[in-house]
Amino acid sequence: MNGPGALESILARHPAGRRDALVPLLGEAQAGRGWLTAEDVERIAEHVGVPGEVAWSAVRSTGGLRLEPPGRRPIRVCVGTACQVHGSNTTLAALESALGVAAGRTTPDGAFSLDAVACFGACGFAPVAEVCGSLRFGLVSASVPELLAELRPARAGEPDRRPREAAE
Ligand code: FES
Repeated sequence: MNGPGALESILARHPAGRRDALVPLLGEAQAGRGWLTAEDVERIAEHVGVPGEVAWSAVRSTGGLRLEPPGRRPIRVCVGTACQVHGSNTTLAALESALGVAAGRTTPDGAFSLDAVACFGACGFAPVAEVCGSLRFGLVSASVPELLAELRPARAGEPDRRPREAAE
């Protein structure tokens, strides 16, 4: 989605006044650009007929919705049931601590973004995360330092071990 015109074309496909369309519409509006603006949230609230604070609450409580652009190296941690059972909340907390940002935020330098999302459909490999667009299986908290070392830009004289999509 790139601008108000794109949002209006999405809204035109959904009848106004359907409160149950709030979260699906927020997700659809985010899909194109990768994040939501305040104007998107307020316009969608108006369209489905809920107060703005209800829409803001939905943004805060729905995994994967974000209010700022994703980082160059997006990390999305599954917090679905199977992954939680296998410790994904601990993995997420370790990433929040190491990156210094909460889930749903992007680091100030734009290098990383962190999101908590629900189920990648790979529950048998829990805990699962998506790193720079690729699924990582069994990503436990103890693996976080190694993951970030892999993703961070190499210092001078060191080989660049980042996946190609993470390299700048
Ligand atoms: S619950 Fe995490 S992949 Fe399904």
